Amino acid sequence: MSISIGIHDLSIATSEYVLPHTALAEYNGTDIGKYHVGIGQESMSVPAADEDIVTMAATAAAPIIARHGKDRIRTLVFATESSIDQAKAAGIYVHSLIGLPSATRVVELKQACYGATAALQFAIGLVRRDPAQQVLVIASDVSKYELDSPGEATQGASAVAMLVGVNPALVRIEDPSGLFTADVMDFWRPNYLSTALVDGQESIGAYLQAVEGTWKDYSEQGGRALEEFAAFCYHQPFTKMAYKAHTHLLNYCGYDTDKDVIASALGQTTAYNTVIGNSYTASVYLGLAALLDQADDLTGKPLAFLSYGSGSVAEFFSGTVVAGYRDHLRTEANLQAISRRKTVDYATYRELHEWKFPTDGGDHATPEQTTGPFRLAGISGHKRIYQTR
Ligand code: COA
Repeated sequence: MSISIGIHDLSIATSEYVLPHTALAEYNGTDIGKYHVGIGQESMSVPAADEDIVTMAATAAAPIIARHGKDRIRTLVFATESSIDQAKAAGIYVHSLIGLPSATRVVELKQACYGATAALQFAIGLVRRDPAQQVLVIASDVSKYELDSPGEATQGASAVAMLVGVNPALVRIEDPSGLFTADVMDFWRPNYLSTALVDGQESIGAYLQAVEGTWKDYSEQGGRALEEFAAFCYHQPFTKMAYKAHTHLLNYCGYDTDKDVIASALGQTTAYNTVIGNSYTASVYLGLAALLDQADDLTGKPLAFLSYGSGSVAEFFSGTVVAGYRDHLRTEANLQAISRRKTVDYATYRELHEWKFPTDGGDHATPEQTTGPFRLAGISGHKRIYQTR
């Protein structure tokens, strides 16, 4: 008999600041309808100078450790595409900030927005090998495009931490997975750039091609029928993309694309992404968090996941919601993470966007802007210094 493995706990964090799209639209003269309706975004999370993927990741993970302890965690997998170091895994800073034991394996994974799904699948493999162990999977990203570029309106920042283990309290992850890889240049970031390069239309086309590719493989591997799924959690670089993807999938499978049916399959998965913006690796799991936090009882219902990472790799898989899951949700804390953000004006956002550490190897403290449990205090001798409050 196969054992049940999946997401036992899930916690989210986002940045200190938020920029409403109305402020961006006012600055660049865009009709707000393009942001609110055209791409489906209301606001974007903006990191303070003293926060980054590590502080958000530790903030998301700490409540999981507080609830479950650390005794069973022997692996931490950190997925990101906005890494802070070319060599050292960002997860090692998190390991230290949340006090995991030295007998832990820590690694960072990268494949654009897909990395967290690879992390989840690798975690399941580790747990299958030793069901006594749990794996802490963290997806944390700051999505940053060049100022005044089309991608700017889709920026965001957040972290999702998930505890993966046997007899999960939230979602049991199932076999098979549908897989798809294609060598495309739709979105990438060379090592010497701090903002991503993107061919927006190409990336939408590549995403839709990956929807077809993963579904075809998923079906060939003996996956569920499309009509079995209660909801679909798509990667959401902007929330309208989930609608484009699902419409495409329905068309590809020969189904009607009724707007109400699509809205009921997706609507509750977009609530967090629409106010946070693109959070790359975390995006699809923010969709799951929003769905579980808001939907009527989903007990026993299969959910579909479509994880897409430009470049590109994608995976379609399913998970079934576990009885009693509502007792384990963090709805209030998740909503609080979003509502606690302070609104910044456009000029402050622009200043934060351009803020960066000098690269001279000197001692440089960051301004104290955050109010959360962890902060990036500065850099000294090219070493990042983190603080716990
Ligand atoms: N009211 C309502 N909708 C409006 C509008 C208005 N006033 N003005 C424009 N729109 C709609 C457009 O019709 C379009 O909708 P459609 O895609 O359904 O046709 C949408 O808003 C976006 O308009 P577009 O002209 O394509 O915007 P853009 O050139 O600024 O590019 C992205 C949009 C998403 C391609 C761009 O933000 C981007 O490159 N993002 C980063 C990459 C990314 O997110 N890729 C996704 C795959 S990973």
